[in-house]
This record gives sequence, structure tokens and C-alpha cells, in this order.
Amino acid sequence: MKLAPSILSADFSRLGDEITAVERAGADWIHVDVMDGHFVPNLTIGPVVLESIRKVTKLPMDVHLMITDPDKFAPEFIKAGADWVSIHPDTCSDPVRTLNKVRELGAKAAVAVNPDVLLQKVEPLLAHADMFLMMTVFPGFAGQEFIEEVLPKITQLRNIIEERRHAVLVEADGGIKADNIGRVVQAGAEVIVSGSGIFKTPDYAATIRKMREAAERSKK
Ligand code: DX5
Ligand code: ZN
Repeated sequence: MKLAPSILSADFSRLGDEITAVERAGADWIHVDVMDGHFVPNLTIGPVVLESIRKVTKLPMDVHLMITDPDKFAPEFIKAGADWVSIHPDTCSDPVRTLNKVRELGAKAAVAVNPDVLLQKVEPLLAHADMFLMMTVFPGFAGQEFIEEVLPKITQLRNIIEERRHAVLVEADGGIKADNIGRVVQAGAEVIVSGSGIFKTPDYAATIRKMREAAERSKK
């Protein structure tokens, strides 16, 4: 399991230190939530901030674009240091073209799937993506409640990927904490995003340890 703390719940006045702290605490990736106030009713950060945080960590940066124009901005985020770029397919006129463009520019391409989107609808994109980001909340805000109903969809996706031998990772994002991470991993997620579940706890290393133990237990 890879653990990707979402900096949306970090203390932005000390963003560099917060990233260093989760890196030392055992994080695998850094998840960056980009929101534009159009696709979702919240506004966060742009490429300028990404460029600065790229300098403080060597961990892969997992950039989740919740914006209406990923075709315009994905190249800027890749230039600023994104290793992974997730797009919501309904924001692209031609999602395959956007995914190809992300890969051409040297990043890994991921498809974000909202809780109410049927797998059948996004399945054709499996052949063009490096990862599927399964949303376990509706995108827009940190600290929302985990939507249990997405778990069977994660399992279904994992089965399809294995049956068809696609090289696609499954990531889960939203409302994941030490007390439910076991179920998410058991369902088939390999990359776990957690914002408030890590940054709103007093000891990041202890929390990450607890999350890994819970994930291990769930596999037995
Ligand atoms: C939701 C974001 C998530 C979220 C994670 O729109 O994509 O990454 O901020 O935060 P928690 O773990 O607090 O739900
Ligand atoms: Zn996210």
C-alpha cells in the first residue's frame, strides 16, 4: 500500500515543513488537490505553489485536478513538477487525448471517478491510464464523511484490471482514516489518500504507523 497524504488539510503557513514532516513520518507520495471554484465549489492552489513544494520533497507528487480546463493547465502542473496527474473525464472534451497528452509530457495519467459514476462509463479509459482514482467522497472539500457504497466498486474495478491484465493502479480518496483504511485496502485499493486523517492528528508518524498496521491486518 502506498500512502499519499493530501496537503489540503496541512497548515499552509508552514507548508514546506508539513511536507517534510509527513515525508519523515513515512508518506510515499504527496497528494495535491487543485480546485478552481468552477468544477467544484472550492478554490485551492495552482502551479506556482506546486513549483515551490517540488523543491522540498523528492516524493512523487500526485496532482488531482478538480478544474474545468485540465487541457489548459495539466501541462503547467507537469512543468511545475507533477509526477501523477488525475483528471475527471467529464471535464475533458476528449479524455483519451488529455491522458495521452499527460503521458507525452512525462507524467503518469490517472482517471478520477466520482462516487456516482458507473464503472461501465469509464471502463474504456482503462487502456489509456496508469491509475484510476476512486473518489470515496464527492470532490470539493477535505474532512467529509467516507462513502461506504464505493467499496464494492473498488473491488469490481480491481477484478476487471486483473482479468484484463491492465497495468493500472487503484487509488482511493476521501474520508479515509486509520479506522476505515483496512476496509479500503481489503476492497482492493493500492494507493490511499488521506488528508484530515493524517494532518489533523497530533503525531503523523504514529498515525501512519497505525494506518499501515490496519492495512496489513486487513490482508490477513
Ligand atoms: C476531496 C479531495 C480529497 C480530500 C482528502 O475533494 O480530493 O483529496 O481533500 O481529504 P480527507 O482525507 O480529509 O477527506
Ligand atoms: Zn484528492
